[in-house]
Amino acid sequence: MRFEILTIFPEFFRGIFEHGIVRRAQAAGLVEISIVDLREFTHDRHRTVDDRPFGGGEGMVLKPEPLAAALASIGVLPVSDRGEGSNESVILTSPQGQRFAQPVARELAGLERVLLICGRYEGVDERINEMYCDREISIGDYVLSGGELAAAVVVDAVARLVPGVLGNEASSEFESFGASDTEIDADGGGVPRSQYGAGGLLDYPHYTRPAEWRGMAVPEVLMSGDHAAVRKWRREQQLKKTLRNRPDLLENAELTREDEEILTR
Ligand code: ADE
Repeated sequence: MRFEILTIFPEFFRGIFEHGIVRRAQAAGLVEISIVDLREFTHDRHRTVDDRPFGGGEGMVLKPEPLAAALASIGVLPVSDRGEGSNESVILTSPQGQRFAQPVARELAGLERVLLICGRYEGVDERINEMYCDREISIGDYVLSGGELAAAVVVDAVARLVPGVLGNEASSEFESFGASDTEIDADGGGVPRSQYGAGGLLDYPHYTRPAEWRGMAVPEVLMSGDHAAVRKWRREQQLKKTLRNRPDLLENAELTREDEEILTR
């Protein structure tokens, strides 16, 4: 899958995708990420990418021409010319967008090409949004100084879900799940463990050695070897953490009667 990021700050992305899973996904040829410098598509001495807003007001607006030229240079068509079954998405990052969440990340991971336009200043000329973007995405209810961080967040969250990136790890561990009690990231193989995976609860707490650290002991049950007890404890922890930190998620979570009991304790 190919990600392309249009930005006026290409240097922002230097090194950002060269770690961990995203780096490995690129090395394996499963993910390709390229950065397009908007200023390369200007024709004046100052390489102007922005202008004052019509109607007045603070800040500057990204001009449509450099954006349209950059999009044309990489073969991006207007939405109306893309046709049914297009396997790509052109996304504008902006605080006005739909909230980015795991279901959107999963959907994007199934595409061949995702193009991200990083908003800046007060915004992007709305005609670009209308003509080229099939989505406008916000990564949360706060205003960043630009869409670069948001684009990086989207690439990271989507890249790890691209088939094959976590795939082998996930499926091989899934086979031994239960017997070995090794659980894996939910999103790779569909194992209902982690936050936003199937089940819709937050993840449970994790511990590793040492068993005691600064007088704090790892919960006994995790060292008991009793897999059923571990599963029960983890489920309970997921429920409690979700209730405490994200009670809104419980509305859509898949809960058993036993879960409901734990929540009302
Ligand atoms: N640009 C500025 N704030 C943003 C946000 N919260 N999400 C996406 N893009 C943004």
